[in-house]
Amino acid sequence: MLNHLQDTVTLHNGVQMPGFGLGVFKVQEGDELVQAVKAAIKHGYRSIDTAAIYGNEQGVGQGIREALQENGLRREELFVTSKVWNADQGYESTLAAYETSLKKLGLDSLDLYLIHWPVKGKFKETWRALETLYREGRVKAIGVSNFQVHHLEELMRDATVKPMVNQVEYHPRLTQKELLRFAKEQGIQLEAWSPLMQGELLDNPALLGLAAKYGKSVAQVILRWDLQHGVVTIPKSTKAHRIAENAAIYDFELTAEDMAAIDALNEDRRIGPDPDNFDF
Ligand SMILES: NC(=O)c1ccc[n+]([C@@H]2O[C@H](COP(=O)([O-])OP(=O)(O)OC[C@H]3O[C@@H](n4cnc5c(N)ncnc54)[C@H](OP(=O)(O)O)[C@@H]3O)[C@@H](O)[C@H]2O)c1
Repeated sequence: MLNHLQDTVTLHNGVQMPGFGLGVFKVQEGDELVQAVKAAIKHGYRSIDTAAIYGNEQGVGQGIREALQENGLRREELFVTSKVWNADQGYESTLAAYETSLKKLGLDSLDLYLIHWPVKGKFKETWRALETLYREGRVKAIGVSNFQVHHLEELMRDATVKPMVNQVEYHPRLTQKELLRFAKEQGIQLEAWSPLMQGELLDNPALLGLAAKYGKSVAQVILRWDLQHGVVTIPKSTKAHRIAENAAIYDFELTAEDMAAIDALNEDRRIGPDPDNFDF
């Protein structure tokens, strides 16, 4: 069990990944982004999740550099994730995309590089490139995002390295039971994107009831539920007070009944695209 914001899970290759991080989807380049990254790291976050398609790797890199200096931290103390975008999938183009991401971030290597979406007919070649980067020691861990069980099975048929992480939409309306079970069986770490359903769940009556019971916010209850399910979580906020609030989940524990009550909110409902039916 993770007891502290900086506690880590061990990926199947032995790499330590923080169980909690900051997401920066939809945050544009600029001061707000730089300040959010800095606020998170200053507060104790050690993991930042970005992607080439977010168009904000430069600001994330700037925030990281400034935060390292101001907080006397070393690069190795942070865990930085980015993702290869769909248009760049394929072997050579993925290798090139990795260099572009590094350049924008101003980093020598990433801790985790993910295939952003399972683009049909391409993701296996893309995976081969990630394996090359991994084998050459250019990246600490490699993984996928938005992969269903059948995508993982197809990938693993020819893979020489098993993905260490699968980052998927995961929240109380989409509890991904099968995928979570499969991931646990395979030693693949599940990571939740849009853990707060982009804000949609924050006025849910059942969750409000639990929040009142524990003297916590709905966001904290949901993020604690992620933690207790062994799912790494990366809520996004650009507001310093919410960045702090979201991480204050290590001083209470949901009972088994309350965990089950949250599980029961599942409607298999997505806020984002369906990995089996997307056209980008
Ligand atoms: N792999 C993928 O395909 C994929 C897709 C989507 C997202 N992601 C990753 O997952 C991260 C998180 O997902 P997300 O950004 O889509 O959504 P999210 O984290 O579920 O929700 C973010 C929204 O909730 C608000 N919020 C955050 N904390 C709050 C709090 N304590 N109280 C009230 N409101 C709060 C934020 O507003 P403020 O900023 O104004 O606080 C923002 O509008 C992304 O940033 C990204 O890194 C990955």
